[in-house]
Amino acid sequence: MNQRVALVTGGTGGIGEAICKRFIDDGYKVVAAYNNKEKAEAWQAVQRQAGLDINIVYCPVTDFDACGVAIKWVEDHVGPIDILVNNAGITKDGAFKKMTAERWDAVIDTNLNSVFNMTRQVFEGMMERGFGRIINISSINGQMGQFGQCNYSAAKAGMHGFTKSLARETARKGVTVNTLSPGYVATPMVMAIAEEVRQQIEQGIPMGRLSTAEEIAHGVSFLASELSSYTTGSELSINGGLFMH
Ligand code: CAA
Repeated sequence: MNQRVALVTGGTGGIGEAICKRFIDDGYKVVAAYNNKEKAEAWQAVQRQAGLDINIVYCPVTDFDACGVAIKWVEDHVGPIDILVNNAGITKDGAFKKMTAERWDAVIDTNLNSVFNMTRQVFEGMMERGFGRIINISSINGQMGQFGQCNYSAAKAGMHGFTKSLARETARKGVTVNTLSPGYVATPMVMAIAEEVRQQIEQGIPMGRLSTAEEIAHGVSFLASELSSYTTGSELSINGGLFMH
């Protein structure tokens, strides 16, 4: 069998980087989609020095046509996409009374509309080939809400509604669609939360610590594997016990 091809949006940092590295270990051809060329090229060089051959492609996930161009580049240069991880995401936190339309739109565009922009252009090919894995990286805060995150929580909850609907449409064609909802992971995004607030959050986590990005990537690896063929429409929570439901 040919090596599977995996495309990870937001692949050059945080959780995305850990997913790319794990996918290399799992034997896939990996493409990290990026938004910042300079950062991505430097990142790729570091990975190469470490012996990891990870392709990169420019892919501003808020732009449907640009996503199409990136997807075509991957198909032409690496191969048909078997695994898509919709991981790109941003925060623009603030109490709702201060929430501007700009902050709302930016988060909905980057975290939710991106899922449409990418998935719409790969899932039919997956169904035609009879294999596909679509993995949407959501968040615990899409499940339980968080003060200051109306925009982010709405986008992340929306991802799971999308997952459950598309899973029904692809279920008989070998294409699974799942959500993974991380809790608080030690990435720059979480480390940017005010120290005092972060400490309070950490104290509330039953395991008493943040997750590593590798612990999240392990769950992604599970969802991507051939043997996860009966897992679809599910939401895998990896949150140290912070939200049990
Ligand atoms: N709970 C209860 N009340 C809070 C509060 C909280 N967490 N945060 C602020 N408030 C209160 C303030 O005391 C203040 O009260 P008064 O008006 O009575 O004075 C009011 O709400 C407004 O506070 P601020 O002016 O500080 O509000 P702000 O708009 O500047 O921002 C915030 C508040 C910085 C967003 C803060 O609520 C916060 O840090 N929340 C946590 C955000 C968070 O967890 N983000 C996660 C980012 S990482 C991520 O998202 C990854 C993932 O998937 C988990």
